[in-house]
Amino acid sequence: MKTVEIVEVSPRDGFQSVKPFIPTERKIALIEELAACGFRRIEIGSFVSPKAIPQMADTPEILQRARLPKDINVMALVPNAKGLQLARNAGVKRVAWVVSVTESHNRANVNRSVDESFANFKAAWSELGQDKPKLRFGLSTCFDCPWEGRVPEEAVIRAVERVLEIAPDVEIGICDTTGRAAPDHVAKVFGMLLPRYASDRVIFAYHGHDTYGLGVANAIEAYRQGVGIFDGAAGGLGGCPFAPGAAGNTASEDLVFAFEHMGVKTGIDLSKLLTAADHVAGVEPGQAGGKLRTVPRRRALSGFGHATQGLGA
Ligand code: COA
Ligand code: ZN
Repeated sequence: MKTVEIVEVSPRDGFQSVKPFIPTERKIALIEELAACGFRRIEIGSFVSPKAIPQMADTPEILQRARLPKDINVMALVPNAKGLQLARNAGVKRVAWVVSVTESHNRANVNRSVDESFANFKAAWSELGQDKPKLRFGLSTCFDCPWEGRVPEEAVIRAVERVLEIAPDVEIGICDTTGRAAPDHVAKVFGMLLPRYASDRVIFAYHGHDTYGLGVANAIEAYRQGVGIFDGAAGGLGGCPFAPGAAGNTASEDLVFAFEHMGVKTGIDLSKLLTAADHVAGVEPGQAGGKLRTVPRRRALSGFGHATQGLGA
């Protein structure tokens, strides 16, 4: 596999954890800048309770006003039937429904048991009949839970089977919500899932956080196992507000650098992305992360088709 897809999720996973309200204009400008970097897909906002996450309340307005390239796929997160309905009303063609593998995180995140969430999903999904949006099903806490610790592989397999019973055509996001997975753990989980379930109809994606500095290593391990879709947040912004201690997603620019450096194409202009990532990080510098932005820019871009003269030693 010589190409991968990096899905830019900072306009959802990144922004959602920022407390002061980011003005809608600023969000739109950042999203348009990110969209010009070459991403094929961006996750923009979520249709969740404004009491749970006030920052996401302007998602419909953003979706209406942002000027995006025609061919870009927009994805939005939904946690329940009401969110699905609102997303469809807003014209969203690709939804990311989330359920956690662990009870405690699902309760903290969506105030429901895992059973209740799956029942809610089943009812809402079958009600749509043939007229369904594309589905990413995000399974949170596939590796570690803030309350339950290391998550058994069998629990992840069971959750995947529950998804497939309801939605046989699906992209399943295997999420390291806390960022505590290590590469051997990632290998084990995908080593079990991919041979058993991956097909033309069932695609797996890896959604990692970089809390412990293992985000890139984990993504590369997922790639080695056969995963081709990776979520990242420009500037490493964010962290789940309902997963205490979690830092932001693995920085998109770090993922792009790592893959391109390995000869794996991402289709993303790293120079533009680094500039956009600085702007995204500027929203809340204390919650930003990533490594590549700290390297002198011309050195970071050396060998990436950009001017490298005068780099010095
Ligand atoms: N969008 C907007 N409003 C919603 C909603 C949605 N998807 N789902 C429920 N609501 C509203 C209801 O209409 C109701 O409004 P009212 O008080 O005016 O009547 C209110 O929220 C409570 O509804 P209820 O179904 O009891 O929700 P809840 O309080 O049990 O919360 C969730 C459940 C899922 C809505 C809430 O926990 C949530 O939004 N979580 C999102 C978590 C998240 O985004 N995490 C980060 C991403 S993984
Ligand atoms: Zn996340």
